Amino acid sequence: MSQDVLNPARVQEIHQEAARRRTFAVISHPDAGKSTLTEALALHAKVIGTAGASSGKANRKETVSDWMQMEKDRGISISSAALQFSYRDSVINLLDTPGHADFSEDTYRVLAAVDCAVMLVDAAKGLETQTMKLFEVCKQRNLPIITVINKWDRPGLDALALMDEITERTGLQPMPLTWAVGISGDFRGVWDLRNDRFARFQRNNAGASIALTEYFTPEEASDSQGVDWSNAVDEAGLVIESNLEFDVDAFHAGTATPILFSSAALNFGVKELLDVLVDFAPHAAPRPDVEGSPRPVESAFSGFVFKVQAGMNKAHRDHVAFIRVCSGVFERGMVVTQTRTGKSFATKYAQQVFGREREVIDEAYPGDVVGLVNASTLRVGDSLFLEGAVEYPAIPLFAPEHFQVARSKDPSKFKQFRRGIEQLEHEGVIQVLRSDLRGDQSPVLAAVGPMQFEVVEDRMEHDFNAPLRLERLPYSMARISTPEAMPALANVVGAEVLLRSDGEYLALFNDIWALRRIEKNHPGLTLVPIGTHN
Ligand code: G4P
Repeated sequence: MSQDVLNPARVQEIHQEAARRRTFAVISHPDAGKSTLTEALALHAKVIGTAGASSGKANRKETVSDWMQMEKDRGISISSAALQFSYRDSVINLLDTPGHADFSEDTYRVLAAVDCAVMLVDAAKGLETQTMKLFEVCKQRNLPIITVINKWDRPGLDALALMDEITERTGLQPMPLTWAVGISGDFRGVWDLRNDRFARFQRNNAGASIALTEYFTPEEASDSQGVDWSNAVDEAGLVIESNLEFDVDAFHAGTATPILFSSAALNFGVKELLDVLVDFAPHAAPRPDVEGSPRPVESAFSGFVFKVQAGMNKAHRDHVAFIRVCSGVFERGMVVTQTRTGKSFATKYAQQVFGREREVIDEAYPGDVVGLVNASTLRVGDSLFLEGAVEYPAIPLFAPEHFQVARSKDPSKFKQFRRGIEQLEHEGVIQVLRSDLRGDQSPVLAAVGPMQFEVVEDRMEHDFNAPLRLERLPYSMARISTPEAMPALANVVGAEVLLRSDGEYLALFNDIWALRRIEKNHPGLTLVPIGTHN
């Protein structure tokens, strides 16, 4: 199958479709309201009839985290990787990120596949640790960030204090697009700065349906809201004065961040977020390849794997590779080339995973996410193309901080053990480090968060029938090094050098003191901090 890149109608169609796409992820500290916001966004897109229909923490959590169930219950299109819906003239792709900090490496990969991030801040807590870590990742990737101050219906911090914290800790200039009317805990509505009007929110069925919003002129708002209105206008005015008027270029350049206020639980301010995404968030644009030259969106199909997930359907022990489409049109059935191996890959049997039901998707455009089922040869970071070879930049690995030696519990299952470890490494579940000294039978597993080891143990036992024994190592930090470091540090206490499968030599140290001691005693060694710290 060939994509006629010269056909002007086709080129125009691809441009139009790419321009309609808004592909983003929500970054937040656990409990800031990411899942609630996700439901609220879908609700506003009128895709579902009710959000959070089940009441109580346990039920709701289950419903939200299990998107497959949500899809089943409400008949919306959700894969475990991306929620896609139409809003106004746009197609919104909201990519899921894991909530737990231990899986921040997965989040990082998702952030490689989006064009924008929404930083969700709990109004009572401000910028929390995980938010800051993920913010740093966005900064490294130059991702534009929209900031949403959530839970304004609950007592929290002062709005201006939150703005100061954002400026000081992120370096981003806050650019209010809405400003809360009423202090935190008394959320009446927002000053919609773009339209200079008061959007008054009304509670509706405890957030189970879209908030009723009425609009008033500033004069009417002043009459009805009195000092709350004038405070909102004064505060937002102060922020604008000391920073800048809304500037879409500064937002796209990652130097300033639009500010919105919300209560995801009450669906307040959610429509405003969708409108900002549609009006200002960057659309799918030419993506730079490994050489830095952007591949036009109208080029033949290309994309890269940002996530591999196994066991989505326990019965089938399946394996789904999620691709972010970067150029051209993905058409089901096309035979694409895997850049790393040069091998052809038939998407004939591939489908798009939409929750429990695997729905066949015939086409996907730049910005969209396609799930290829049973794509076990695809690895995280792999590029695929139809014509005109392209390699997208590798997704860098995080700096691991936890290290354990893995051994097969049953030596007769060494083959399964080896295959399992290799597979989990390709899926990005864990990093694998080796050395001649340790041998093939006992690789070192390296993780950003300790929960990754639990996943490895479970998967090795149940998916690969190769239960393993893990033994903790005392190291807590890693540096990128060179082959010479391996013999140099072979007998040094508190350090070890191992080879990671991406070809990097990782020097591991018990602690910063061990690192400093070795830096002093071996001044010739290269020990470079790993760019992407968790
Ligand atoms: P997460 O995915 O970021 O971890 O957060 P999640 O949506 O699960 O929300 C965490 C808790 O915060 C939930 O409460 C949720 O109802 C609540 N929440 C989310 N957004 C808002 C908001 O705008 N206002 C208020 N008041 N609460 C919000 P929970 O865990 O069910 O506990 P509970 O507070 O309902 O008892």
